[in-house]
Amino acid sequence: TQSLRLGVAGLGTVGTSVVRMIARRAEALAAAAGRPVQVTAVSARDRGRDRGLDLAGIAWFDDPVALARSGEVDAVVELIGGAEGAARATVEAALAAGKHVVTANKALLARHGAALARMAEEAGVGLAFEASAAGGIPVVKTLREALAGNAVSRVYGILNGTCNYILSRMELEGLTFEACLKDAQALGYAEADPTFDVEGFDTAHKLAVLTSLAFGTQIDADGITVEGISAIAPLDLRMADELGYRIKLLGVAEATPAGIEQRVHPTMVPKSSAIAQVMGVTNAVTIDTDALRELTLIGPGAGGEATASAVVADIADVAAGRVGPAFGRPADGLKRLPRAEMQRHEGGYYIRLT
Ligand code: HSE
Repeated sequence: TQSLRLGVAGLGTVGTSVVRMIARRAEALAAAAGRPVQVTAVSARDRGRDRGLDLAGIAWFDDPVALARSGEVDAVVELIGGAEGAARATVEAALAAGKHVVTANKALLARHGAALARMAEEAGVGLAFEASAAGGIPVVKTLREALAGNAVSRVYGILNGTCNYILSRMELEGLTFEACLKDAQALGYAEADPTFDVEGFDTAHKLAVLTSLAFGTQIDADGITVEGISAIAPLDLRMADELGYRIKLLGVAEATPAGIEQRVHPTMVPKSSAIAQVMGVTNAVTIDTDALRELTLIGPGAGGEATASAVVADIADVAAGRVGPAFGRPADGLKRLPRAEMQRHEGGYYIRLT
């Protein structure tokens, strides 16, 4: 059997972890994919930087779009990031050339997911994005495949490791928001522009992906009400604590009589709940369904190795030809999302837990 030839666009923390993981897990990956997988081309902005990678025998491209069009690659792994620019151009060029795409890019999917899914379907190739929501937690596969027999009524989760890290340290150590944000940046978890983390936009992008999978609706990040954590003070956390709650930044998508409500905001969660146990950079997603009632997945949501774990799983899927519609049904069959009026509750937000 022929090996799948991969082009990796973007060699930051995640990209370098992906290249290393493919080499380290070559045999297991070939077994999962039914054929060998080989990185044949890479692209990044700075060729001179030492990433500790052995790139001997791998073609280098300064331009990721040229990599996407290259005859040396069958599938493109996009790890550049950002909703527009090089990332979007690379993914579109790959799909137009009839190549599978694996991406971790939640911002791109939140803005252009429906159109990209349509391009992939027309080309008969896969568009895989397990790493785009909740990092290493296999929540995309869970919603798309494992829960096919379930009607989902609600999905909510801690989808941003940086915010959960900040809130956890503020609560446990009484530190200020600013001090915790600096540490999160130093650890390499925060986005290049940390506003995306702390103002809730990163959570909103990930929530948009999950909503579409859970409810079979078109991705619609503009319809999400977003409030971040930058206004949370240590006093808020102490007050919540006295009342028996923790404050978590949650992304929530819920079927209501008025439609699918999507919102991101600091939320009071009872200390006894599963989601309240999740501290630090860890993510968690709870899915309420008719058959399972409640399912909670907890795991690492950021970082090179954890995110690479999800990317490599997608690579195995496209190599094996497991490439159904990106959102579990044809893009044309996705309903447009009805807008539900956001319910704002006196004195902040809470969530009813089952
Ligand atoms: N900045 C993100 C986080 C990284 O903190 O969760 C993963 O998308």
